[in-house]
Amino acid sequence: MASASLVSASVRRLEGKVAIITGGASGLGAAIARLFSKHGAHVVIADIQDELGISVAKELECGFYIHCDVTKEEDVEKCVNTTVSKYGKLDIMVNNCGISDEVKTNIVDNNKSDFERVISVNLVGPFLGTKHAARVMVPAKRGCIINTASVAGCIGGAVSHAYTSAKHALVGLMKNTAVKLGQHGIRVNCVSPYLVATPLTKKYLNIDEDHIGDIYSNLKGVHLVPNDVAQAALFLAGDESKYVSGHNLVLDGGYTVVNAGFSVFGHSH
Ligand SMILES: NC(=O)c1ccc[n+]([C@@H]2O[C@H](COP(=O)([O-])OP(=O)(O)OC[C@H]3O[C@@H](n4cnc5c(N)ncnc54)[C@H](O)[C@@H]3O)[C@@H](O)[C@H]2O)c1
Repeated sequence: MASASLVSASVRRLEGKVAIITGGASGLGAAIARLFSKHGAHVVIADIQDELGISVAKELECGFYIHCDVTKEEDVEKCVNTTVSKYGKLDIMVNNCGISDEVKTNIVDNNKSDFERVISVNLVGPFLGTKHAARVMVPAKRGCIINTASVAGCIGGAVSHAYTSAKHALVGLMKNTAVKLGQHGIRVNCVSPYLVATPLTKKYLNIDEDHIGDIYSNLKGVHLVPNDVAQAALFLAGDESKYVSGHNLVLDGGYTVVNAGFSVFGHSH
């Protein structure tokens, strides 16, 4: 019996924790919201797609939706304050939401406004999320911040100039804040996926679940799905990773460690 109760306790790995997930209405954020909820967390979905966000929140055991544009500091501040007044604390902040722009390979064709829009959502958004999460986590002397970066934060050439720049910078923000916030018992990490079929990849790369298998993968026989990213976020959010901070957990089947132009193992398609 004792061992059975130990197992069931470990099954709900976020029991009673309070988590905000930006971009939780769709794609990877919705998968993270569903998995965190299954593991006993109170989940606040912060997004700008109200109808979708409300419907995902309704599915959850303990879900709540807040309209929050991550580029607006007053929205992020209100989201964190509302969460704390509703649930009494904030344990986990997932700065997940992100956008892309149209890939224009020639830098000369890229507009400043498109570049700034991507930086604003993908970098300024996580900056504001980290700032306001830290505001309430520092006095509590604990907390966990997870940023959804990308393989585009590790290497060049995968996607647009703006997206690649934002994700590299996001890894830098994660490292800097992990150093400082570690002094207050707060862990900061990134999860960096390779391609996953979501509305984002459909919109900007025309890749959906039916075509994801056609995309180059270093690891044969499997492809990444939203729940894989959610499992990585769950690991980073839970006590299993209590000493992991400043880490970029790359989910890419080895894509970013191979140099396809020069490899003694040759090419395989
Ligand atoms: N899908 C992939 O292949 C992939 C790979 C690596 C990293 N990522 C990253 O994962 C994250 C989630 O992407 P996804 O594929 O699930 O995309 P998605 O488009 O399905 O979801 C993104 C969510 O963010 C929300 N959002 C956009 N702008 C916002 C804003 N200003 N404020 C609040 N919410 C906003 C959208 O409404 C949407 O619900 C992004 O940061 C993305 O860069 C995705």
